[in-house]
Amino acid sequence: MHFQWYPGHMTKAKRMMQENIKLIDLVIELVDARIPISSRNPDIDELGKHKARLIVLNKADLAQDKYNDAWMEYFQEKGYAVVKINAKKGSGMKSIQGVIAQACKEKIERDRKRGILNRPVRAMVVGIPNVGKSTFINSLAGKACTKTGNKPGVTKGKQWIRLNKNVELLDTPGILWPKFEDQSVGLKLAFIGSIKDEILQTEELVCRLIAFLKEYYRGILAEKYEVTESEDDYECLKAIARCRHCLLQGDVLDTEKAARLMLDDFRNGRLGKITLEFPQESY
Ligand code: G4P
Repeated sequence: MHFQWYPGHMTKAKRMMQENIKLIDLVIELVDARIPISSRNPDIDELGKHKARLIVLNKADLAQDKYNDAWMEYFQEKGYAVVKINAKKGSGMKSIQGVIAQACKEKIERDRKRGILNRPVRAMVVGIPNVGKSTFINSLAGKACTKTGNKPGVTKGKQWIRLNKNVELLDTPGILWPKFEDQSVGLKLAFIGSIKDEILQTEELVCRLIAFLKEYYRGILAEKYEVTESEDDYECLKAIARCRHCLLQGDVLDTEKAARLMLDDFRNGRLGKITLEFPQESY
């Protein structure tokens, strides 16, 4: 399966990011808890190298708790502040402000030594499309929501959301492009819906997801769709079509429809909490 990407958009997004990053102290990087490595763009480490860093494992509700914790440890060991949340429901959001303070403690200390007191930390949210940036910003802003206008010395037109007296957030997130030249990364991004479905061959994609689930989450497909998991992947898809009554005229199985239904079940958590990559595989 081949994935395409759009360097034109990426160049523009990267240029904006480079500009905005000059204005901030802290990069809040959202990743998808189901694929915390594949949903990152390694460029951010270079772009944000002199900034405080916070990694937010978002959509933690869709991933397995034990792996969420393992991923938190993984990133903490690499020196990032980390938090896991469900931005949609708001769980974990309460701890954000404390974690921001923790992530910025060196900067705050530096300021204090220079006699600068009470200067708010400025932060921006970054992440690949669909990772939950807008949901996260709305959830944070919903509570605080004092928008500050243009400020002297700050690029015109930037809107800052004052979260409290210590933190201001840029209201537009930075869009990072995923690195999906690596086909296994592209595949995982496609599973979670970060690549437009129109450019994918759904049945082939779902057969790959079936193969993954048979290997790492044995029993799920049997339980959910009465699939005999020892059969090959396409036979399993046909079984899903039978179970979900996906039929064309003349009782021919509609495997395309079954594939779409199954993808939807997976993406919406109806197959349960499923983590697609594991810390021990990453280095
Ligand atoms: P973006 O700005 O990074 O592109 O992402 P955005 O906030 O638009 O979120 C993308 C989708 O992910 C949205 O779903 C949003 O509701 C969902 N989402 C965000 N955070 C979480 C989370 O923590 N858990 C879960 N389960 N979902 C989350 P959508 O289907 O596009 O919209 P809607 O149907 O929710 O309105």
